[in-house]
Amino acid sequence: MKVFHQISLLRDELKQARQAGKRIGFVPTMGNLHAAHIELVKKAQQTNDVVVCSIFVNGLQFNDSSDLDKYPRTLQADIDRLEVAGCDYLFNPDDAEMYPNGTEVQTRVICPTMTGVLCGAARPGHFDGVTTVVSKLFNIVQPDEAVFGLKDYQQLAVIRRMVEDLCMPICITAMETHREGDGLAMSSRNGFITATERPKVVILSQQLNGIREAVQSGREDFSQLENEAIQAIEQAGFKVDYFSICCSKTLQRVDDKTEAITVLGAMFTEGARLIDNLSFSRVR
Ligand code: PAF
Repeated sequence: MKVFHQISLLRDELKQARQAGKRIGFVPTMGNLHAAHIELVKKAQQTNDVVVCSIFVNGLQFNDSSDLDKYPRTLQADIDRLEVAGCDYLFNPDDAEMYPNGTEVQTRVICPTMTGVLCGAARPGHFDGVTTVVSKLFNIVQPDEAVFGLKDYQQLAVIRRMVEDLCMPICITAMETHREGDGLAMSSRNGFITATERPKVVILSQQLNGIREAVQSGREDFSQLENEAIQAIEQAGFKVDYFSICCSKTLQRVDDKTEAITVLGAMFTEGARLIDNLSFSRVR
């Protein structure tokens, strides 16, 4: 795998690949790679001739500096994993390369819908940081296809919207959430879950599944269902950030007409904020 830290050198390399008629797949990450990231790389390999992975811990999307400071940085282990997976290129820029004029005056890409709710309500400016860095990365790599995990459902929806609104010629592919044996969604933040908490955090995915069963068996008292899930999570010892039954496309609150439903939840453990979601269609 070739590793690039500079935009210009990566561009030269990818220009040659493009001129040779190669299709370019892209997997943007912030590093601390685990099995779910490698699945994204493998997915990109299936439909592209070369795959670029990026590792950049994007300060612009963190609204809490202590969260940014403690974000796990495991570059050598990440490189080893990508090598084993057969990834072709790694783009690993530093802050000065990505934000040469500083983040304060960086031009922003802002998606005005879907970004102020759920994770966006708790983390103001988070999605502006995501859409800004992802559009920069898309401009640098110019991929034919980019692969994202469904675990960050809201991020995926916002990125799809950005690509549509800005006419970016990139196919956005979503990968199912990769889960541990008990259902916990894989995440770089799982390393912050304590041993005592670990058996209990599965409550989040259990409540998502419980809501699917309830809605598909005809319950429509959505607020009550949300409250019951929140109570169950609190009883397991966790603080709930949000737990919301939404329309899959708009992320607005579900209503009587919504057919495609996504339930999204976020809760706090001692050292981490965990998110998860589940999509399903309503059975009439
Ligand atoms: O999902 C992530 O890891 C990040 O939000 C992304 C898409 C790489 C942008 O920094």
